[in-house]
Amino acid sequence: MPRHYAIVPAAGSGSRFGAEMPKQYLPLAGRPLIYHTLAALCRCPRIDRVWVVLSPDDGWWGDYDWRELGAKLETVFCGGATRAQSVANGLNAAQTAAADDDWMLVHDAARPCISQAMLAALCDELADDPVGGLLAVPVADTLKRADGEQRVAATEARDGLWQAQTPQMFRYGVLRRALAGQAGVTDEAGAIEALGLKPKLVRGDASNLKVTYPADLRLAELILQGKTEGESE
Ligand code: C5P
Repeated sequence: MPRHYAIVPAAGSGSRFGAEMPKQYLPLAGRPLIYHTLAALCRCPRIDRVWVVLSPDDGWWGDYDWRELGAKLETVFCGGATRAQSVANGLNAAQTAAADDDWMLVHDAARPCISQAMLAALCDELADDPVGGLLAVPVADTLKRADGEQRVAATEARDGLWQAQTPQMFRYGVLRRALAGQAGVTDEAGAIEALGLKPKLVRGDASNLKVTYPADLRLAELILQGKTEGESE
């Protein structure tokens, strides 16, 4: 049986957020944001090990105590210049444990609200899939293309469009091959698509938001609070 592993690229500077520290360390519900992300992955019974990929210059990780996350967590300081390079370097670090057929779940550090139900749905739906796939949500809003003056140049058809989320789950061997020489892709599915393969879209939901701007942090806090109160995951 193939095993499941996770890689969390966390070597970004979070420049769009505009804070002094990288956004993965911003306080969220009493912990650094990334703590919640890692806790969800480490708590998932199907995932055997979690590699967190930090920047070689990371100056924050050592300020916190991560022991509560348990023995599944592996920390590597091999982040690259792009997200894809950080993931590729993380996959390289995982080679002592992972076999080509094992599943790798790549999950953004900045998505702390991932639920156990969504992780299970992803693993279940892709268990026998020849390619792998990703959590995603059909686009609900009308899409506008802007011109240079921030005025509407066109209304775009949204039929068949989905917003890609993470985790994105692919076989270790294929993913390594796909990412080699694909430093510019913004997600793993993009690299897999470049091989001519078609990743499966597994329906997620909007609660798995990516913290990108300050308002997202408050929203993430409310979602996490709701989870602890209702424990509906
Ligand atoms: O910037 P963005 O939100 O798209 O980043 C997505 C994820 O990729 C974040 O978890 C970020 O820390 C990570 N990343 C990385 N290495 C980079 C750039 C981003 O690990 N060079």
